Amino acid sequence: MKGIVFTEFLDLVEDKFGLEMVDRIITASTLKSDGVYTAVGTYSFSEMLQLLEHLSENTGISIDNLLLVYAEHFFSVIEKSYPGLLATYKDPIEMISSIENHIHVEVRKIYPDAELPTFEVLDKTEDSLVLIYKSSRAMHHFGLGLMNKTFEHFNSTAKIDLEKIKEDGTEVRFFIQRN
Ligand code: HEM
Repeated sequence: MKGIVFTEFLDLVEDKFGLEMVDRIITASTLKSDGVYTAVGTYSFSEMLQLLEHLSENTGISIDNLLLVYAEHFFSVIEKSYPGLLATYKDPIEMISSIENHIHVEVRKIYPDAELPTFEVLDKTEDSLVLIYKSSRAMHHFGLGLMNKTFEHFNSTAKIDLEKIKEDGTEVRFFIQRN
């Protein structure tokens, strides 16, 4: 997992819960990095999982909800860092249905070692989209948060439901309906 995902996560934890919480979740985890991350480095996903688990234990907020809120923050990082990529799109459904064949393809050019999910488009209309998310990291709620913000970015809203195909969340079906 790319360092930018860790640095932005810890910044958000500091912002919402204070530096003491950052210290607490790092100390409670067994981290090869010792909790020192650079934006361009690459670190094990198990480090993110441990940080999320300890933050969840300390705040009583579920990992899914933490990932949802974190993704909403991460979207603003994307807006700042990759304005050109977003400017390619005029419509949220067009953008979300292009993650697999365009957006994450570009991301992989920038970070060859990025660990990305796959999104398969099952059905697409002007106002709806059905997708299958697959990833060993089960970060579907991170995807949900990015999708919510994608609609907001285009001054639009949608109802987005998800249904686990695999109990462990490594395969999830998304139903998106523009309001
Ligand atoms: C992961 C970039 C749009 C879904 C990532 C990562 C980056 C990235 C850098 C981390 C890779 C790693 O840590 O190795 C971008 C950029 C986007 C974009 C630049 C737009 C210009 C989206 C959108 C979605 C999405 C709109 C919503 C469906 C995900 C998910 C992950 C991810 C779910 C977590 C990894 C996983 O589930 O395996 N993306 N992304 N991305 N992205 Fe994107």
